[in-house]
Amino acid sequence: MRPLCHTSDIEEGKSKGFEVDGVALFVVHHQGRWSVFRNECPHLGINLEWMPDQFLDSDGCLIQCAMHGALFLIDSGECISGPCTGQSLTAIKHEIRDGQILIRL
Ligand code: FES
Repeated sequence: MRPLCHTSDIEEGKSKGFEVDGVALFVVHHQGRWSVFRNECPHLGINLEWMPDQFLDSDGCLIQCAMHGALFLIDSGECISGPCTGQSLTAIKHEIRDGQILIRL
């Protein structure tokens, strides 16, 4: 496990993108939990965000791909609407320790 960032770096209801060893990923802080996924839409394999660190829909309740609007559950990464419905984002193994988000690629 390696440190990615501090939990306080990502406010509740926000998301943030990172690149680690050439792998694009992002973190969502939602309802007191942190989810970490590869920044790769299962539809076309491209990055999801329309602007830096903007991975959520307007309500902040779902992850949204900017290209064709696919919507994903924050907890599981499952696509529930759009061209890749039924597929999922790739989750990154992580844990929270001493206020840090640690990941394993
Ligand atoms: S590339 Fe993400 S929905 Fe099409």
